[in-house]
Amino acid sequence: MKNINPTKTQAWQALLQHKAELADISIQQLFTESADRFTNYSLTFNDEILVDYSKNRITAKTMKLLHQLAAESGLSQAIEAMFTGEKINRTENRAVLHTALRNRTNKPIYVDGKDVMSQVNTVLAKMKSFCEQVISGEWKGYTGKIITDVVNIGIGGSDLGPYMVTEALRPYKNHLNMHFVSNVDGTHIAETLKKLNPETTLVLVASKTFTTQETMTNAHSARDWLLKSAVEESAVAKHFVALSTNATEVAKFGIDTKNMFEFWDWVGGRYSLWSAIGLSIALSIGFENFEQLLSGAFAMDNHFRHTSIEQNIPTTLALIGLWNTSFLDAQTEAILPYDQYLHRFAAYFQQGNMESNGKYVDRNGEIVNYQTGPIIWGEPGTNGQHAFYQLIHQGTTLIPCDFIATAQTHNPLGDHHNKLLSNFFAQTEALAFGKTKAEVEAEFIEAGKNLDDVKNIVPFKVFTGNKPTNSILLRKITPFSLGALIAMYEHKIFVQGVIFNIFSFDQWGVELGKQLANRILPELASEGNVTTHDSSTNGLINCFKQWR
Ligand code: F6P
Repeated sequence: MKNINPTKTQAWQALLQHKAELADISIQQLFTESADRFTNYSLTFNDEILVDYSKNRITAKTMKLLHQLAAESGLSQAIEAMFTGEKINRTENRAVLHTALRNRTNKPIYVDGKDVMSQVNTVLAKMKSFCEQVISGEWKGYTGKIITDVVNIGIGGSDLGPYMVTEALRPYKNHLNMHFVSNVDGTHIAETLKKLNPETTLVLVASKTFTTQETMTNAHSARDWLLKSAVEESAVAKHFVALSTNATEVAKFGIDTKNMFEFWDWVGGRYSLWSAIGLSIALSIGFENFEQLLSGAFAMDNHFRHTSIEQNIPTTLALIGLWNTSFLDAQTEAILPYDQYLHRFAAYFQQGNMESNGKYVDRNGEIVNYQTGPIIWGEPGTNGQHAFYQLIHQGTTLIPCDFIATAQTHNPLGDHHNKLLSNFFAQTEALAFGKTKAEVEAEFIEAGKNLDDVKNIVPFKVFTGNKPTNSILLRKITPFSLGALIAMYEHKIFVQGVIFNIFSFDQWGVELGKQLANRILPELASEGNVTTHDSSTNGLINCFKQWR
């Protein structure tokens, strides 16, 4: 991996100048000047995903300079380094190989001289056989009853991905009821278990490290709940499995390592849904559909690795995103799925992106002098339209948005889908082209109003437009297309991390809070006031102790 400050590249300097050239050119003008803008600035993947990035403030020159920036940053070498198992996660001395988990050709991939594919395939085979047993009812609980409910206990990458995908692929689901518990707040597990029968419930303890406080606390509470009715310790083997890299801790918890589905340190938590962490997905939709998910991601991996930069979808999205944040000064990006099944998609990539690229130190250990990863957020449309779109349309902050929709719905109910999609198309149109003062006045005249009477209201009805968006249209949500869509965003994050010259695959930023919480925990159990912190923290803790 190259190790250069992106702002020191020739392309960055040229992009700064180019930004000034484009300052007075609007998206409206760009469309007026070229009838082929959609053709020139859209890409299709596999005849299943259309990515239209034409409604951005970009020209051919912008793209050329962004491609140059990628080249100067050593993007193609970095891509090969990741796919071939180099230890690009240097601060943890690990390879980054979520792509090996979906390497459907089984071509060898080496880490420390050892091909990882046989391990990957062994675990996949074990997952397959387990899923078949549970789904068919062959796997029985401690009283001989079949499993009806599955509870995945995990947090962060061990929760968000499996939860997002099982929700997105609900049309493919079988009879198993899926539940996800993540929060250490006892309410989460209590409210979940309340509805369940321990005799027919399977608990998946999903944790890469098997030491995460939230997950282990919830797992212990679930175990107590089971043993309250089962009494015999042996019931644990029938109702608990572990998804982890840490066999020692799994055994310490009391789960037989026969019931452990392994993965490895070269799988990052937020990239782990393709590994054993995806067991809840495979249980919910069946193993064949899980394989389709892997195949979709694999197809996107091949596209990303082997397609020219001009046609490369993840790279294009990464460069556009970088242009918007680093040059047009947007600090945030919204992900807005117009598909209810994707209701956790933005939350998933909030972790994916912000935990990966929320870094202020570069690969030299130096503090960066440029913006790195953006703030990611979003909600499904059209709910968002009635909540926060006002600010996107008329606020003072630039918020580039990704709009995602599907051409075919799984629920063709009356004209719901056309209504949904009309909103999807209308929003990007409104954001790009806005509404001028003349248009507002013309509307008033058409409605029979006298302009003098309405002149005070006119400014409030003007939309400046010129707001950048990408539109991503899927033919249909299937396990394959969803796999490809997720991999597309993963690689977008990777490309940006390479150019930002940061380490995208560690997450030291979550450690300090954990450390301090561990220090505070015994103080909460003890009697009397605390005096060991600053006055605010002391005051808050002491009030809590008084009120609890
Ligand atoms: O929030 C930090 C983090 O390490 C994430 O990266 C990870 O997804 C999550 O905690 C859960 O970790 P584990 O799977 O080890 O329980």
